Amino acid sequence: MKTVRTQVAIIGAGPAGLVLGQILHRNGIESIILEERDRAYVERRLRAGVLEQGSADLLRELGVGERMDREKLVHHGVHLQFEGERHRIDLSGLTGGKSITVYGQHEIVKDLIAARLAQGGPLRFEVRDVQLHDLASERPRVTVRDADEPHEITCDFIAGCDGSHGVSLPSAPAGHFTTFERSYPFSWLGILASVPPSLDELVYAWHERGFALHSMRSPTITRLYVQCPAEDSIEAWPDERIWAELQARLAMSDGWQLLEGPILEKGIARIRSHVTEPMSCGRMYLAGDAAHIVPPTGAKGMNLALHDVRVLGSAMTSWYRTGDQRELEQYSATCLRRVWRAEHFSWWMTSMLHRLPSDDPFGAKLQLAQMRYLCRSSAAATSFAENYVGFEHA
Ligand code: APR
Ligand code: PHB
Repeated sequence: MKTVRTQVAIIGAGPAGLVLGQILHRNGIESIILEERDRAYVERRLRAGVLEQGSADLLRELGVGERMDREKLVHHGVHLQFEGERHRIDLSGLTGGKSITVYGQHEIVKDLIAARLAQGGPLRFEVRDVQLHDLASERPRVTVRDADEPHEITCDFIAGCDGSHGVSLPSAPAGHFTTFERSYPFSWLGILASVPPSLDELVYAWHERGFALHSMRSPTITRLYVQCPAEDSIEAWPDERIWAELQARLAMSDGWQLLEGPILEKGIARIRSHVTEPMSCGRMYLAGDAAHIVPPTGAKGMNLALHDVRVLGSAMTSWYRTGDQRELEQYSATCLRRVWRAEHFSWWMTSMLHRLPSDDPFGAKLQLAQMRYLCRSSAAATSFAENYVGFEHA
């Protein structure tokens, strides 16, 4: 079997793995990125699209923010909608000028892959049978089938950036990790439509029929979501039904109209929360969705992934430069503080905005009281805004 040596083996070419590769490269540390899908699949995979200020700044610092800065949409506020009225939360005014950047995750992935390949950095797509070995030793190994050839990679560290169905998490000895989970009894049906956004900011809408979200990807592409029963399949949702539900849930009493257009893509995703502790096992470090999942309501998933690898990249750099292990030892605790803040915020927003047919009327009254409070009290709105735009990096 052919053996290759590197410093860091990175499993997964999503935002976490690719950004980590970029941080390490800029600090003179070698890595190999192993991805099981092909390039086209990874570059097209439709995901989130809201970057906190700190995430957009990180991409710029890493030299991959140029196209983002040309094509992004900057938003200074978001809207909460209920009972046919819309209320704007002034994110920038409440957070000393911070904003959010709307730019699709798959566009970020494209930019990162292009940068990686231009640097000649090893990035292998369509690898098979990734297996991790000797995590507790100082020379962990990864075995992989690449173009049907078995290979072995020896390294100093493994970064498990392989998402929620990856191989890294199950590679630890039984009982090493503790998992904290909450599932919600609903899904989100998301569409991408070829139509200009009907409003230039995001709208989070509470409605008796269930939650709806108006978002966007560009001046000509709208991204919309409706809450649906957890077990629904996409076949139950022909285009007319999706638009009818969006029209009902986003309707305003002032006659504002949601614009409709051809649906380019549609899909259903389960809503859940999941945290694995600690975020490391010997010389393997988990980052991004491999370690934690948040409900999309707070738009935190990609931002947490980028925060993890910023901390991990810095910790590995300190270790290589000076032999200092302290940042690596603190990696899990440092990241988990932010992860749990985001879990709480995402759970709170999810609980405030979603309805179930079985919910009691008391619950609806509490949700509405909470939303009215957010729109009237600058203390409550400031708390929302600082969570939404994201805290300074640790
Ligand atoms: N071997 C190699 N690659 C793998 C394996 C495996 N066994 N299992 C999964 N992968 C790859 C996936 O194909 C994917 O490209 O790991 C990558 C993980 O990427 P993401 O799922 O995008 O996760 P992450 O980089 O942590 O980014 C988090 O993604 O799900 C969204 O909301 C989430 O925006 C957040 C972001
Ligand atoms: C999106 O544009 O896909 C999006 C925006 C905000 C969210 C979730 C998803 O909270």
